[in-house]
Formats: sequence, C-alpha cells, structure tokens
Amino acid sequence: MSSLDQAVERRRTFAIIAHPDAGKTTLTEKLLLFGGAIQMAGAVKARGQQRRAHSDWMKVERERGISVASSVMTFDYGTNTFNLLDTPGHEDFSEDTYRTLTAVDSAIMVIDGAKGIEEQTLKLFEVCRLRDVPIITFVNKMDREARDSFELLDEIEQSLALDVTPASWPIGMGKSFKGCYDLLNDKLILMDRGSHDAPDEGLTCNGLDDPKLDELLPASAAAQLREEVEMARELCPAFDAEAFLGGHMTPVYFGSAVNNFGVRELLGGVAKYAPSPRPHPTKSRSVSPDEKKVAAFVFKIQANMDPKHRDRIAFARICSGHFKRGAKLKHVRSGKTVNIHNPVMFLAQDREIADEAWPGDIIGIPNHGNLRIGDALTEGEDLQFSGIPSFAPELLQRVRPTDPLRAKHLEKAIVQLAEEGAAKAFKTRIGGSWIVGVVGALQFDVLADRIRTEYDVPVTFETAGLHTARWLEADDPAELKKFIDANQGDLADDHDDMPVFMARNGWHLQHTAENWPKVRFLKVKEQM
Ligand code: G4P
Repeated sequence: MSSLDQAVERRRTFAIIAHPDAGKTTLTEKLLLFGGAIQMAGAVKARGQQRRAHSDWMKVERERGISVASSVMTFDYGTNTFNLLDTPGHEDFSEDTYRTLTAVDSAIMVIDGAKGIEEQTLKLFEVCRLRDVPIITFVNKMDREARDSFELLDEIEQSLALDVTPASWPIGMGKSFKGCYDLLNDKLILMDRGSHDAPDEGLTCNGLDDPKLDELLPASAAAQLREEVEMARELCPAFDAEAFLGGHMTPVYFGSAVNNFGVRELLGGVAKYAPSPRPHPTKSRSVSPDEKKVAAFVFKIQANMDPKHRDRIAFARICSGHFKRGAKLKHVRSGKTVNIHNPVMFLAQDREIADEAWPGDIIGIPNHGNLRIGDALTEGEDLQFSGIPSFAPELLQRVRPTDPLRAKHLEKAIVQLAEEGAAKAFKTRIGGSWIVGVVGALQFDVLADRIRTEYDVPVTFETAGLHTARWLEADDPAELKKFIDANQGDLADDHDDMPVFMARNGWHLQHTAENWPKVRFLKVKEQM
C-alpha cells in the first residue's frame, strides 16, 4: 500500500451534530481526551472562555449562551487520525454549518436521552441527508432519567426515516444506570462512576451467556438485559455496513459523555465503520482521494481569529494527493499560483504549522482576502467543486455607519464579512447603499459587534422594506440585460458583483417572475 493509500485509510473526518445542550461540547472534550490531545477535562470550555475574554464580539455569544465560532480538531487514537470539525449548533448559523458538513465524511448525532430528537437535530440531520453522510447516533445522558430505549429508537426511525440498529444496549438508566452491552462486539461494559476523566477499559465479559454476567450484574438486571437484547435483535435490523455508508441506517450507541461512558465504544465505532475520505464531486468529474495530485476546496473563511493580528484563515479540505508545506497550487478562480508556505493545522488547543497534509485533513491558509468559500486549489487542473451553496437571506436590513466619514471602512468590513460567509452583502444599484442579508436575526447583533470591534466602525441596522433577494440567471444574456436595464430600482450587486433582484414582498417577486418568464430567480447560488 502506498503512503497515500495508508494515510487515506486511517483518516476519519467527521462532525458532531446536536441540538444545543445535548452534550456536544462535553463529548468533544472526551473524544479529545482519548486522543491525548488534551490532558484534562474542561479544556475545551476553558479554551473557549479564554478566547471569549480576548474578543469582544464573542460577548454576544456568551450572553446568549450559544456557540458561534467553529473550528477543527485533529487527534490520533489507535491507528486512526481523526479530524473533528466543530459546527455551530444555533439555527441562526445554519449556512456555516451546512458548508462545514460539505467537508466531512461522516457525522455523530448526539441526542439527549430524556429529550429524543429535537428541532435542531432534525435540521442538521436533513443537511447531512442531502449528501447521504453516514451518521452514528449517540444517546447521551443515560446517567439521568431517560426515555425508554425502544421508544427512542422508534422515534429516531420515524422522525428521520432511517433504519436504526442498536450498537450498544443500556443497562438501567438514571441512578441505576450500570453500563451497556456492546452488541456489535458482544461484551459487557460497566460504568465506573469514579473516573470521569481517565479513559479506562471497564469490566468486560464475553457474550450474553457468559456466567460472569450474572456475577457482575444483579440478577434482575441480567435477566432484563438478556430479555431486552433479544427483543432488540428481533425488532431491529442487524447492522448493515452498506446501508450505513449510504446514509440509510444509523447505529445507535448509548452512554454518558460527562461520565466518559460509552465514548470509547463510540470512537471505536467511528474508526471501524465510518468511511475514510470519500471522493468529492466537481463540475467535471469526481475527485478520488487516492489521486496523486493535490486538490482542495475552501469551505469556510474566518477573519480576525486573533484580534491582535488582522488575519484571515481559509479552511480548506484536502480532497486528494499528498500536500506538502510550500506547495505552489493553482487558485482556479483567479488562475494565479498561490504559494502555501504557512499552512496551519489545528490541534486541540493550538494551531501549528503543518508540514504536510493528506486527503481528509483540513488546513488553514492565512491570506489577505484572495481565497473565498468554494475556491479550488489544484496542481493545475481547472476543477470546480460543486455542492457548496449560498442561500438567499431571509432577513434584510440597511446598514449605515454612525459616522458618515467611516463609509469606506464600512464597505471594506461588509465585503470582508460577506466573503467570510458571515452574511450576504448587496449594494443597491441606485443610491449605492449597503443591504445586509442574514438567515437568522441574531446575526445582525453579531455583525454590528464585529464591525465595531474589528473595523472600528460603529453601525446601525435599519429596516430596508425588503423581503428577500434572488440571484438572476437566463439562458440568453440579452434577456438578462434587458431585465436588469428595466429594473435598476430593484437591483443590487452582491460582493462578487453578481446581480441580485431585491423583492419588496412575496407578491413583488412572484409578479416580476411572471412578467419575465425567461429569467430565473435563484434562491441558492453555487459558490464560484
Ligand atoms: P452542548 O455543547 O451540546 O450545548 O452541550 P454541553 O456539552 O455543554 O452539555 C450541556 C449540559 O449537559 C452541561 O451541563 C453538561 O455538563 C451536561 N451533560 C453533558 N453530558 C452529560 C451526561 O452524560 N450526563 C449528564 N447528566 N449531563 C451531561 P451544564 O450544567 O449546562 O454545564 P456544566 O456546568 O456542567 O459544564
């Protein structure tokens, strides 16, 4: 096996999706503990707090108790290298989350055992389904009163229209939660309530018929376990690797992240069953990870990660080839060559310079704004990665600097934030004012705070009397021009200079579309 094939084989690039409070942060932390990437629990949060102390705009996040920023964490465990991509859990940031999910090969869905499938779990799941991302489910908080396990499995199956197979089976719950029976490896794992931070092997016995089971469990618990496992095996389909990889079946693990219980089995499941880097679609062909030449795409831009240095990091997923530091890659959109001499890798607590990266890895490329979401970097081929869309905003407001002399600075801030993907920016054809579009209202607060603290431009947002924006397309360029010329008053340009129709209300959009049947009004724009 070549070193490229080996590197691909051992990599697992995944995200954790969850409704806020289900335990994503806690689970992330425990996974990093296994990887030895952090020494003590609490480090993920501590790091968060440290960052928050540095950066003012994060105040919004802290006040509202949500996680806005997302990052990448790389760690080794066993023979695998894991790249965990963090996704913001709040619905207001769904677009950012969507793009992050275009860069993973699988996902862990964390569910609170007392709550089952919640609103945000469902939305994030739908995003994964669009790309048939294989999903492993972790039912968390089994140390608390949880819902009946059969009922939970049924709910997952019904609400997600997905085949469900238990990978482990819980023994009791709440105060009487004792552990799980690992159905895929046929062994018992008992919870050790004493050791929250040190991963340990737990007590094991082999097979349900092993008499050791009766020694380790009270008689009633052993009988109940045998009965429930038998029923679960009858009711649920057996694990089917192909169905799982196609995104049609989810194995379900039960555990308690805060007690570090079930986490090892879950990580083992990701290692054993989740796919190594998968091929990525482009407009012309599919890029396979084992191709010798490097190809990568940018799925996220984060500006000003460190407020002391005005840096911008483009997060790129390596899709093929062995990337080496200093590589000169073609930036397909501009046709220019970029020399990537200081790529960054993200370890749990630090960033450090990456000397090399393999398919599935995420590198951070510091840049001054030349890299954008959706951009391809290749060894010469003109690839255009597909499936990285931009959604029409549902909320639009006019933004003005409090001090009119800061208008130029405002423009720079707005364009940079739009390129980063934090919002949509439209400059009206008539009047030249800036309209900012977002998916969730909270984003306006975050933007105002960032523009003020990062660009030193205090701003106000005011209603623009607009309903939505649509990108324009027509088969005949003359027809598009005719439309644009006739509708200047309702037109704006986005930060890529693409013309956009600004609708005042639903009727305005519908009426205009009816009058111009040869023009398409697009809700989604593929990044170019
Ligand atoms: P999130 O990132 O998905 O929003 O959830 P997070 O990990 O922050 O967990 C939300 C709350 O649930 C935290 O409590 C956390 O300690 C708790 N939790 C996580 N896993 C388990 C578990 O297995 N069992 C139980 N009983 N609780 C769990 P908190 O009080 O909000 O925060 P903290 O003060 O404990 O840190």
